[in-house]
Amino acid sequence: TLQTNITEQGKTISPDLIGVFFEDINYAADGGLYAELIQNRSFEYYLVEGYVDLEPLHAWTLVQEGGAEASMVIENTNPLNSSNTKYLALNITNKGTRAGIKNSGFDGLPVALGESYKYSVYLRSQTDFNNPVVVKIKSSVGLVIGTDTIKNISSNWVKYSGEITCTNTSDKATFSIETDGTGTIYIDMVSLFPQNTYKNRENGLRKDLAEAIADLKPRFLRFPGGCISHGRGISNAYRWKETIGDVAERAPNWNLWGYHQTYGLGFYEYFLFCEDIDAIPLPVIPVGVSCQFRNREIVPISEMGPWVEDALDLVEFANGDISTTWGSKRAEMGHPEPFNMEYLCLGNEEDDIPEFRVRFKMIADSLKKYHPEIKIIGTSGTSHSGTNYDGLWQFSTQEQLSAVDEHFYVQPEWLLNNNHRYDNFDRNGPKVFVGEYASWDDLMKNAIAEASFLTGIERNADVVQFTCYAPLLCNENHQQWHPDLIRFNHSNVIKTANYYIQQLFSHYTGDMYFESNLTYEENSNPLESTYFGKIGVATWNTQAQFDDVKVINGDETLVEMDFSSSASNWSALSGSFSISNGSYVQSSANEPAWSIYSLPIESKSYTYTLRAKKTSG
Ligand code: AHR
Repeated sequence: TLQTNITEQGKTISPDLIGVFFEDINYAADGGLYAELIQNRSFEYYLVEGYVDLEPLHAWTLVQEGGAEASMVIENTNPLNSSNTKYLALNITNKGTRAGIKNSGFDGLPVALGESYKYSVYLRSQTDFNNPVVVKIKSSVGLVIGTDTIKNISSNWVKYSGEITCTNTSDKATFSIETDGTGTIYIDMVSLFPQNTYKNRENGLRKDLAEAIADLKPRFLRFPGGCISHGRGISNAYRWKETIGDVAERAPNWNLWGYHQTYGLGFYEYFLFCEDIDAIPLPVIPVGVSCQFRNREIVPISEMGPWVEDALDLVEFANGDISTTWGSKRAEMGHPEPFNMEYLCLGNEEDDIPEFRVRFKMIADSLKKYHPEIKIIGTSGTSHSGTNYDGLWQFSTQEQLSAVDEHFYVQPEWLLNNNHRYDNFDRNGPKVFVGEYASWDDLMKNAIAEASFLTGIERNADVVQFTCYAPLLCNENHQQWHPDLIRFNHSNVIKTANYYIQQLFSHYTGDMYFESNLTYEENSNPLESTYFGKIGVATWNTQAQFDDVKVINGDETLVEMDFSSSASNWSALSGSFSISNGSYVQSSANEPAWSIYSLPIESKSYTYTLRAKKTSG
């Protein structure tokens, strides 16, 4: 029996409770959400000890047909610009039928019959090179399924672009640049995007993945990391200024998860995505202390100036008007209107060491002085299991921060047992941001444990302001972390049970929480029924006038529920249903007074929200 009294004053629920955290891990950005199909487009990959796929010719091979003889080398004597210092020199000594270079994308390029693709490439040639250059999309068996011709190659760098419509479908296509001339041509920034990106943005996002994220209705987007924010060493930190402007002028960096970041999906694109999915931007910037798990480096105090400026300038980039230095850069990129950034997250999981506190404070104090309107979110440290967070919580409270970020990667039992973690949290200090959490595995029981934890969060959503699962995306061929919320390959987006839990809580959320009391008849498994007994919440949505009751069944056996309402001005809310493995049975329902949302997945379904409608008064 779940009893809830919705006539009493409830507790306010944060309007921004469920969001998403995007980090470029598991090829989430390059090779994932970022729709660029060419891998290593600017030949800037470089070797990093212990990491794979980073050599400068990665993903490129030579094309030599019909007796052609050619070579390709990486050069840097006459670069495109000072941040894109390498390019490819293709030297053809014997023309044969044709020679060129070919890119295999991220495990092949997925292209489809009738779809159009926008290509662009920077070329320059020796003065005596007069032959046309042909760009081709070829199927996995080498059939040309799309092509375009570039004539009159200049002896200076020029960007050539066009559109190719494919005459066939291929999941493992290649993109090649070929010619039947002899001599040397220089090639840089080879790009191929589907015409059909999310919201048709230039330099945009893969549509199906962006839609899967949008379908969560996230209230916020935390980005860009995670560990990639503070980096493996200072030179590897994510400095947002390197990720805006013309993509050909963005100096890339290697990714501490073992591959390469083009920064094509950079801060401007993140802000735009927030706008497109109506999510609050929660950017994370580093504070001059690199990742504690990987040979931590610390910026000397005397060199902290640019790190402090990064924070102040980010506020100007996001919110400043177009007469300001950074506001005008945003306008140049196509967005004169401000992005209305309200929050800034400083740091990610740094240890509580004096060096961190001092640097954090330098940035926080400048923000407070020059941008008191910005709410600062701090970090609680590295623990991942809810312990050892006290030091940085106390520091954050002293600093009067707006919220503090906590991370949990834990066994499902931890989430079940910590349902009450926030019941007695200080309501006068910073709010809680559960900025990363997941139960260790992607079995149904893990999703259920997360649902259980979220009921505790809803019950305390006056003090817990934001929560997001992590990591969000995983390219199935390039996994560095497991579990992940959404898995994908070229043609499929696979939503996990954990995804549907996030969606359930995000879609069915109220603005008030009411005390509810769940009692149940003991079944044969005391442990499971304890979990079950703890888990039930009722929330009220003032605007839409309905009540959502979430009940999590942590037991695999059938549970029968009866429900009724004693409120006189409510639709007759009574009925009963049974929750079993994979289905629910509904009886004596009084529709449309109530409805049931169940997980739309084929395996066992255990988690339901009842939605009851107020009919009058
Ligand atoms: O989500 C994966 C990683 O876990 C994040 O980069 C980091 O913040 C945490 O340690």
